[in-house]
Amino acid sequence: MNIGFFDSGIGGLSVLREALAAMPNEDYIYYGDSENAPYGTKTREAVRELTFNAVRFLAGHDIKALVVACNTATSAAVRDLRAKYDFPIVGMEPAIKPAVEKNSGSGKRVLTLATALTLKEKKFQSLVSKFDTKHIVDMLPAPKLVEFAEKFNFKGPEVESYLKEIMPDNIDQYGTLVLGCTHFPLFRKVLDEILPDGIDVIDGNRGTVHYLYDMLKAKNLLSPNTGKGHISFFKSGVQVRDRALIEKYEKIIYS
Ligand code: DGL
Repeated sequence: MNIGFFDSGIGGLSVLREALAAMPNEDYIYYGDSENAPYGTKTREAVRELTFNAVRFLAGHDIKALVVACNTATSAAVRDLRAKYDFPIVGMEPAIKPAVEKNSGSGKRVLTLATALTLKEKKFQSLVSKFDTKHIVDMLPAPKLVEFAEKFNFKGPEVESYLKEIMPDNIDQYGTLVLGCTHFPLFRKVLDEILPDGIDVIDGNRGTVHYLYDMLKAKNLLSPNTGKGHISFFKSGVQVRDRALIEKYEKIIYS
């Protein structure tokens, strides 16, 4: 059986990359809704409808678990997805807790980069109220990064000048940058280059995959295979057969 992955586009490949490193022998089916990306600038209702359509599709493809590898879709729909489906569903959560723990003693602040919808959703607001007792967390939407990523444009002058333009002037007050959107780790290199030393960039991908592994193990769902698993890619419901596009995906997941 497959592990299903879903994202609004190619961002979830940054999570799949971690999953492959931890569980290379599993079979995966990846659904990126690139025809409808970005999700983060849409309404909650629109994101819910697109997410439910994609998950209905994956549910028909022999999945034993689902990773909603999209913070935006997780915020808008994960609870209702869990109520509807019997297979286990793992969602994304911005790494606010470790970021706050790391910075609260040092006087530094935490900057969270996510989509506009994630930042305004109740799920994220409650996460912040729970852990950010000293009010050190700031939020910044970065919608153009999703557009750049969907064009496989992860570096270069356009990306750099956008990032420099949106970053707060007083960037030195931050100790950690939390990437609260799965498209954003794809810009890791350029972020490391433009940010001052001393700012840690973190995402929730590895934590999510640990959680997925523990859950599959506890439910006896880990694959008994020892060889390399198979991955199939679907773009908005259509299987990707274009070799050039598959190679672009593979460049991300095997880098
Ligand atoms: N990758 C998504 C996330 O984690 C959404 C990006 C978008 O489509 O706006 O939030």
